[in-house]
Amino acid sequence: MALDKTMNREPGHIKSFSLQADRLQITWSNGNESAFHYIWLRDNCPTVRHPIVGETMLDPLAIPLNITPQEVQLTKRGTLQIVWANDEHQSDYDPAWLYQNAYESEFREARRFHPTLWTTASLENFLPEVTYEAIMADDKSLLDWLRLLRQYGFTIMRGVPLEDKKVLEIAQRVAFLRNSNFGLHFTVESRPDPNSLAYTANKLYGHTDLVSREAQPGIQFLHCRVFEADGGESLLIDGFSAAEELKRRHPEDFELLITLPVGYRYQDQETDIQFKAPMIRLDADGGYFEIRYSNALLAPLDIASDLVVPFYQAYQNFTRILRDSKFEYKFKLQPGDCEIFNNRRILHGREEFYPQSGARYFEGCYIDTDDFLSRLRVLERQGKDFRESLSIVRSSSK
Ligand code: OGA
Ligand code: ZN
Repeated sequence: MALDKTMNREPGHIKSFSLQADRLQITWSNGNESAFHYIWLRDNCPTVRHPIVGETMLDPLAIPLNITPQEVQLTKRGTLQIVWANDEHQSDYDPAWLYQNAYESEFREARRFHPTLWTTASLENFLPEVTYEAIMADDKSLLDWLRLLRQYGFTIMRGVPLEDKKVLEIAQRVAFLRNSNFGLHFTVESRPDPNSLAYTANKLYGHTDLVSREAQPGIQFLHCRVFEADGGESLLIDGFSAAEELKRRHPEDFELLITLPVGYRYQDQETDIQFKAPMIRLDADGGYFEIRYSNALLAPLDIASDLVVPFYQAYQNFTRILRDSKFEYKFKLQPGDCEIFNNRRILHGREEFYPQSGARYFEGCYIDTDDFLSRLRVLERQGKDFRESLSIVRSSSK
């Protein structure tokens, strides 16, 4: 079945339906077809949801696996109504809700988010830039910015006032801050007593931050406050785009990096944080989930000995791609610029800088991916009651 994607989000109208042994087959007015298992329908009866909080209250053990309808009809109110054979419970479904939640593979594919993978060449045509003024001024600009950030994995914000902790104001325009051992707010400069390579003047190859934690921070903000030093240009790399290249050029290396958990460890006098995970992680649909890459924090390999050399080969091949100028976007931030990126997709870094030639001072913070995406979805909902997406507004029960 070829799904008309443009119709997917439109409310569907039921043209006809037929009862199969364990599911209801629906033909939609636009020609698409989808089936709903009876057990799925009973579990998603609008009456099972608490009318105020919207959460499900039905005990999964209360639904017979072989549940079947006694009667199915389209009502004058426009609902699809099922009376169940086992207990005569009545369920009324909004067809538009069923259409939006159809789980045929084509419907699921049409609902998936596809990021725009970039290379340095593609950034020559379009650089995702926004202004501080716009995103602080109204929610429409805020939503546009968050969508851009989700799509490209990074944006450069211009015109951020040169005041302490303005970076927190930007982050808190989106969500609450994510804490860590480096604090809710950190400053990046060359220090005499660093507890991270970030706090030296060293070159930092592309990396993701806080790789030794179970959950790497989602969105990172780095506000350039002072930049008088020579060197110190910024680097950004689309980790998903680079992983695609690895898959194309070295499929067996890609396979190893998506399956083999490797250990990361961060330690200082107060802290010892460790976690093992694959460098490249896919989600359940085979899309990219995250990149976890920091040479500085890779722990001594603790893997099956026959995988040691294959791992180093895969790691080197991936590293070569990450450093290739096709993927490594190099640019210089100016005071008042803030780079904002998805730390679980985009690698960031900097060239070495020379503190004798002048100061370089950035401020940073993080927020979590869940809260970033939640803010985006709520803005997309445009003030509508959240329970509309649960279809409990039009429900009726027996
Ligand atoms: C960091 C970092 C980059 C920079 O603080 O995590 O990578 O440009 N900084 O200094
Ligand atoms: Zn970093």
